[in-house]
Amino acid sequence: MKPLAWIDGSRCDLSEAMVPLEDRGYLLGDGVYEVIKIYNGNPFYLHPHLDRLQNSASAVNIKIPYSMEKIEGEIATLLENSECKSGYLYMQVTRGSAERDHLAPEGTNPSMVMYVRDYPAPVSIEEIKPCSCITVPDERWMNCYIKSINLLPNVMARHKAAEAGAQEVLFYRPGGIVTEGTRSNTFAVIDGIVRTHPESKLILSGITRMIALEILRELDYPVSEEAFNLDELERASEVWTTSTGMEVLPVADIDGKAVGEKVPGPVCRHLIEKYRERVEQECCDGKKLCG
Ligand code: PDD
Repeated sequence: MKPLAWIDGSRCDLSEAMVPLEDRGYLLGDGVYEVIKIYNGNPFYLHPHLDRLQNSASAVNIKIPYSMEKIEGEIATLLENSECKSGYLYMQVTRGSAERDHLAPEGTNPSMVMYVRDYPAPVSIEEIKPCSCITVPDERWMNCYIKSINLLPNVMARHKAAEAGAQEVLFYRPGGIVTEGTRSNTFAVIDGIVRTHPESKLILSGITRMIALEILRELDYPVSEEAFNLDELERASEVWTTSTGMEVLPVADIDGKAVGEKVPGPVCRHLIEKYRERVEQECCDGKKLCG
């Protein structure tokens, strides 16, 4: 596939894509973004992602400079031209380019960029490598429902995880309340109930989280969108993360302590199977993703 970019209407190879140095996204982190997975050449849950981009942009008073119809058309062309089968689409909207000042000068026009890159297709459930997590105090701001490009605390925490040989973080707020990961939402099976932090300003309302909740409810698992704390997490029989990139990813250990007896546990495994069926229905005309 060809990694391609789209910058305010111009298309080019990703390697040649340029944005102005004074773009407020670059200088001030003044922007919002989305990541959409591509399976079999098709975007998965495109509309919920576009709606969330719109909501994030409105929350920070950035007006997306194109209609959703125009954006959808441009995405279709980008995917077709890139011949991407398995990949992801990154989209970013910033307040635009202007002489650096915290106050955006009048007449600054928002800017939008998108690019498509490949990403490995899912492996069989047996081949999934469960992840290790560390717990880290959640020192992010109080508006984590906005998918802002300000990701410094997430980056710092992810580096801390890597130093500890872990791949993801479980952020916790005062009282030990587990919120989410650096780039994923968090689920735990505690006393037989599947728990995840409720939608609030403290987490991103993950699209994968939403799909996982739908599936778990369809399967009649007891589910509660009730936050849990680190003590409760210690007695979890299963923990997993959800995100566009990593899909449903089982957690093997937290701060070096093993989670449950078998990873993935039975609920997580069932969820992965059904999540894949969703992908196959939505993007692959029902054909198997792998195996
Ligand atoms: N991250 N929480 C945070 C902080 C995230 O950054 C993400 C996604 C999620 C999961 O959201 P979704 O299921 O809609 O992908 C939760 C993207 C993938 C990223 O930054 O790469």
